[in-house]
Amino acid sequence: MKLFVDTADLEEIQEASQMGILDGVTTNPSLVKKQGNIDFHEHVYKICEIVDGDVSAEVTATDFDGMMDEAHSLAKIHENVVVKIPLIKEGIKALRALDEEGIPTNCTLCFSSTQALLAAKAGADYISPFIGRVDDISSDGMTLIEEIAQIYDNYGFDTEILAASIRHPTHVKRSALAGADVATMPFNTLLKLLDHPLTDRGLERFLDDWKEYKQARKAEAGMA
Ligand code: E4P
Repeated sequence: MKLFVDTADLEEIQEASQMGILDGVTTNPSLVKKQGNIDFHEHVYKICEIVDGDVSAEVTATDFDGMMDEAHSLAKIHENVVVKIPLIKEGIKALRALDEEGIPTNCTLCFSSTQALLAAKAGADYISPFIGRVDDISSDGMTLIEEIAQIYDNYGFDTEILAASIRHPTHVKRSALAGADVATMPFNTLLKLLDHPLTDRGLERFLDDWKEYKQARKAEAGMA
């Protein structure tokens, strides 16, 4: 499973990248806004220079021509750029046209498996089901991942399932079990994947015992 961070924060991306397990980055207009007064294209370039993997950057036009214009200029920033296109009618047309031009795409704002079916037929490279936001409205985000996985499997679509809007490690675990190809998550959720109290307790015990062993060796050497 590929692991992406869902952030536009360069320090977080750098730190995640230094762990050696980062496969890519997803951004969206809200995450970019959090970075304050930055130049979007320059910022995307900086992210691409940090990460050796796919970096999603989103268009903000909602008409076909506008999406295509933005997609072309985003794709020119860096070879790692994947153009994020919203799952609306004009977006489906743009996905098809970009696929024909060989520009990689991530179809975003997916909330149903029938939407995901259309995105795959249009040639999207990634589909981003927003599982946390589905859970937020008392529905089940994981069922969405399972349905998409089943449908893509039934028909041999090669669109990758990118589990998005991940809020906690259980979302990551269940996405992996359901066969999602990628999970994108906030940096703090990535760190939480490491957490286990028995690891902390076990390490503490090992280090205490090691200290006692060293002290005992030293004491014995002193007596000899
Ligand atoms: C995915 O690419 C989106 O950027 C993201 O996962 C949205 O998550 P949110 O629901 O936490 O905003």
